[in-house]
Amino acid sequence: MFWGNNRTLCPLNSWLDLKKKKPFKYRTAASAPSSAETTGPRASEKSPPEGLLPGETVVKEGKASILFPSANEVFYNPVQEFNRDLTCAVITEFARDLLVQRGVKVVVPGEKERVVVSLSEEAEQTDGQKDQADGQTDEPALTATVGEKCERGLRVLEGLAASGLRSVRFALEVPGLQSVTANDFSTKAAALISRNARYNGVDHLLQASCQDASMLMYEKRGKKERYDVIDLDPYGSPATFLDAAVQAVADGGLLCITCTDMAVMAGNSGETCYSKYGSVSIKAKYCHEMALRIILHSLDQRAAVYQRYIHPLLSVSVDFYIRVFVRVFTGQATVKNSASKQALIYNCVGCGSFHLQRMGRRTSNGKNMKYSAATGPPVGPDCGHCGQRHQMGGPIWAEPIHDSAFVQKVLSAVSGNPTRFGTSKRIEGVLSMVTEELEDVPLYYTVDQLSSTVHCNTPPLLQFRSALLHAGHRVSLSHACKNAIKTDAPPAVIWDVMRCWEKSNPVKREKLSQTSPAFKILSTEPRSDQSHPGVALTENILS
Ligand SMILES: C[S@@+](CC[C@H](N)C(=O)[O-])C[C@H]1O[C@@H](n2cnc3c(N)ncnc32)[C@H](O)[C@@H]1O
Repeated sequence: MFWGNNRTLCPLNSWLDLKKKKPFKYRTAASAPSSAETTGPRASEKSPPEGLLPGETVVKEGKASILFPSANEVFYNPVQEFNRDLTCAVITEFARDLLVQRGVKVVVPGEKERVVVSLSEEAEQTDGQKDQADGQTDEPALTATVGEKCERGLRVLEGLAASGLRSVRFALEVPGLQSVTANDFSTKAAALISRNARYNGVDHLLQASCQDASMLMYEKRGKKERYDVIDLDPYGSPATFLDAAVQAVADGGLLCITCTDMAVMAGNSGETCYSKYGSVSIKAKYCHEMALRIILHSLDQRAAVYQRYIHPLLSVSVDFYIRVFVRVFTGQATVKNSASKQALIYNCVGCGSFHLQRMGRRTSNGKNMKYSAATGPPVGPDCGHCGQRHQMGGPIWAEPIHDSAFVQKVLSAVSGNPTRFGTSKRIEGVLSMVTEELEDVPLYYTVDQLSSTVHCNTPPLLQFRSALLHAGHRVSLSHACKNAIKTDAPPAVIWDVMRCWEKSNPVKREKLSQTSPAFKILSTEPRSDQSHPGVALTENILS
């Protein structure tokens, strides 16, 4: 049995239907890949393929060939290939960045020679980073290739590894690794991980472990034992693992975390979301980005307990799950700023206008930073646009959810080497959208939400964008939702644009209830004064 994208278990046949567009390659043990098919030198020769047990099959993804039992014992989700490809791409760039500081150059198969600029040189240096920088030696630069143990390389933990597919892929596809620990508390899974490590010839790099993931991470939270990379890919929520994860990751290390409990995070059960993540989710069109900001809030909050803080590299909402890649640093001074990076959301239940309220305030007297409680709220009890009530959600992470320079590096690497991953095209598509997102503007509106509030036709996205641009505001799309508009325009301007649009796409007023948000919003004329010099132009664009 395999599980499908709705997290229901699905039999092999239905799973194959999912993959009809790209037929899946099966291999028998006899046709298992030779070491020539995998890339890079090996420290140990591939063991001869073990015979398949009755009912077992071999599944190939990326460079890995994974033995799978037919029984419903160890799980594989083929829909997550994108997740695993993206993770290999992100860890590779992370390794490239980190290892250059340790005098190691990583070599990625299929890649032409590249000039490497260390991102961390631009960032504030933490104690750990200084240690790393001090550790830079004059020794000649080493090179690290895939499948080869690198003594100065990354220590990786996959806490919830199932068959070990993801870890085997790391071992075969990511250069610059010192070790990969693939852990699962199921004894059957752990046994399968060991077999898969041997089957793929990576048992010199990859160790199976059979423990509760939290216990393992707590055991490894000592400064010298921490992991450079921790990957957590649970069923549903990762919440119970976060406290251990923020402690077990090295200073400057990388956490890669999946959440598939989207119903909870997207507002279906705000109280459950609060109990898991310390943040109330609300039902809103921006729910996918809100979910990303909820997990980031939770990570930063838990890290802060240990004088640590997060720096998000990439946060994506894909299919039925979200995935965040964040670095964790140690620094008491920066942690003081944590409250001012979080915000409550005031969301109007009538028209969906939203405002953010930061939890804390940071000011400077020129010499020192001062931290205080924020003042607010930013809205009155009733919405200024439609007169209805405000709902309160959050707190959410209100700072950038991606590091655009880092994302650009991953994007260039994938687009310059497109045969590296089965889902390269999709990675390129998603990351291109990500690089264009307004990074300082949390959340978004959608044009269908705006038009359904006003009961009018939906304006074309391009025209709506142009109208806001001409009104002097910044606008972008969002990878998290088609039809989304991220903008620094306040709700008053957005509703003015909708009023202009409605003029050429009139709504039958007699059909509107006088208490409806549509009636209230359309009862006001669009402002065409000095404060909105773009409105006349907006009318032209939209007419
Ligand atoms: C969604 S699967 C992991 C899929 C895998 N990361 C991949 O990409 O193929 C989740 C796995 O977590 C394991 N698991 C659940 N709770 C755990 C815990 N507390 N400690 C260790 N493993 C756990 C389950 O046995 C299951 O195999």
